Amino acid sequence: MSDYKRYLVTAALPYANGPVHIGHLAGAYVPADIYTRYLRQNGKDVLFICGSDEHGVPITLKAKAEGVSPQDIVDRYHNQMKDSFARFGINFDIYHRTSAPIHYETASAFFRKLYDAGEFIEKTSEQFYDEANQQFLADRYITGTCPHCGNEKAYGDQCEKCGSSLSPMDLINPKSMLSGNAPILKETKHWYLPLDKHEAWLKKWILEDHTEWRTNVFGQCKSWLDQGLQPRAVSRDLDWGVPVPVEGADGKVLYVWFDAPIGYISATRELTPDWEKYWKSEDSRLIHFIGKDNIVFHCLMFPAMLKAHGGYILPDFVAANEFLNLESDKISTSRNWAVWLHEYLDDFPGKQDVLRYVLTANAPEAKDNDFTWKDFQTRNNNELVAVLGNFVNRTLVLTQKYFDGKCPDAGILNDYDTSTLAEIAKIKSRTAQSLEAFRIRESLSEAMSLARLGNKYLAETEPWKLFATDPLRVATILHVAIQITANLTILMDSFLPFTMKQLRTYLNISEMPWSAIGSVDLIKAGHQMEKPGLLFEKIEDSQVEYQVNKLLETKKANEAKSVGIAPAKPAISYDDFSAMDIRVATILEAEKVPKTQKLMKLKVDSGIDIRTVVSGIAEHFEPQEVIGKQILLLANLEPRKIKGIESKGMILLAEDNQGRLIFATPEQAIQNGAIVK
Ligand code: 2FM
Ligand code: ZN
Repeated sequence: MSDYKRYLVTAALPYANGPVHIGHLAGAYVPADIYTRYLRQNGKDVLFICGSDEHGVPITLKAKAEGVSPQDIVDRYHNQMKDSFARFGINFDIYHRTSAPIHYETASAFFRKLYDAGEFIEKTSEQFYDEANQQFLADRYITGTCPHCGNEKAYGDQCEKCGSSLSPMDLINPKSMLSGNAPILKETKHWYLPLDKHEAWLKKWILEDHTEWRTNVFGQCKSWLDQGLQPRAVSRDLDWGVPVPVEGADGKVLYVWFDAPIGYISATRELTPDWEKYWKSEDSRLIHFIGKDNIVFHCLMFPAMLKAHGGYILPDFVAANEFLNLESDKISTSRNWAVWLHEYLDDFPGKQDVLRYVLTANAPEAKDNDFTWKDFQTRNNNELVAVLGNFVNRTLVLTQKYFDGKCPDAGILNDYDTSTLAEIAKIKSRTAQSLEAFRIRESLSEAMSLARLGNKYLAETEPWKLFATDPLRVATILHVAIQITANLTILMDSFLPFTMKQLRTYLNISEMPWSAIGSVDLIKAGHQMEKPGLLFEKIEDSQVEYQVNKLLETKKANEAKSVGIAPAKPAISYDDFSAMDIRVATILEAEKVPKTQKLMKLKVDSGIDIRTVVSGIAEHFEPQEVIGKQILLLANLEPRKIKGIESKGMILLAEDNQGRLIFATPEQAIQNGAIVK
């Protein structure tokens, strides 16, 4: 392992605009957690930093959609995210937030230092402005027609239909999402970080000094650098964010991508008075774990900010994962297409490690990957239960059965025993190599090979067949199997921390450092172990079906929304339903209500009386069309005076997404007054 004195590991600050989902976990938090746990096992001085990103358009859009304040949104999701990360065993040293005063102070001072040093350029340009709301419009607040594919609902920064990235000026017929009006162009002043000025050193730093960076990271950076970097605005006209700390900047805040990465610094300041040691010493190693959509900000923009400021170290590695899809569809918070962590934790209590395992075994490190519930079940049943769980269970149960739970003497080891034990050190070194190269998925597969080795060892030595004839051989076999099990508790600890803690309880041992792996003497002969339980349980088909059905319901709801079908109403009780007196009636007479467009006065035979009902159908039907029709009548709706006419009840009609009305009528003639139930 490289000889840095300390490590500063950050995981992207998630926007506090929705709960944590499996895409977040697979992208940054699970790999970062595994890596930092591994560093700690090696006795390294490490800080693991994260927190909520509480500014920017994703927050204000969500607040607008719900009709609440941005503060309400961030308070709700910050606490929920913090809680579900903790329950899932993501071991941050701090989970901070960018609305904290220390963050405002840190981000303002950072900006001010660059401003005073002349590191920004000031530019006035024309931007879209909503006159009705007296507000400049962020790109996401403008919609219009995509010039590439004709999608009428493209955003000012992107068309979600064809994937093109856009600028608001590209849109045909742009409209403000706030007022619905066409925005005007108005001049506004902003501060820009001249990335072009930083291009030369960024090129050398990445393209020459960091050729070890992952292909996706290196490739994206190279493509930006090859195109030539442009100055990038670091302020916005918005009322939510860190105010720009200079005179004459009223109504302007720092661009969220300027303040969010400074969030890593402010969180470290909040955590420890020693924060500068981690951020400012050349013997500290800064590592970012992020998703691929964050690459440019962490590899070009933040480093340029740090360099312009001076005194800070730069990231030495940026572990960016590709995206995880869900059942072949892009994960989306707004379309509710996700497996939400808090729901998973409720639906699968005590099974944090199963999800950690599946997300790591299938991590989207080199390409986008797909999460399916079927694969989740298969990996649990065929790998965790059938390999790791089976090996450990056999070892512990047989030791209880034959030796009352005491580790037996090693006795005389044969070649197979010795070569099996010798594999442990090799597996350790391969696992470490992969982890240190940030190939986390490969490292898990290496670590699992120790469980496979143990399983194979027991399958081939078959101690359960030997006890009657050769108890000494059985003692040796179980001694070897117990040493493998004890090694597993260390090797697997960063991947499956809950399970390995449980396994240490069964073995009656404490945590041991990474350096202990490879020892074939971790548990001494005579050591008393606890009665074991099962480490993993099978996931049943019914559990998978339940989850898949939940997704099918989401899909249906999304489809309904897209064709203009109203969302489902909350459930009502049977009593609520039976309180309604719905019955068949016949329209006897009909006439339009004078001086109205929509209303028709109907005389109907309800079977219990002849009554008048006023109905809003005059734009859809002529009076002679409806006379004689049998219809359904809600007969006990409170009488109401409409245009001076007392209306008793309501005629039931269906309305489609085009606004067409169709009577709900009995399929065959039936007596008036027949009850609908
Ligand atoms: O993409 C996102 O969710 C951003 N909120 C990540 C920010 S990372 C860092 F810079 F704070
Ligand atoms: Zn398009």
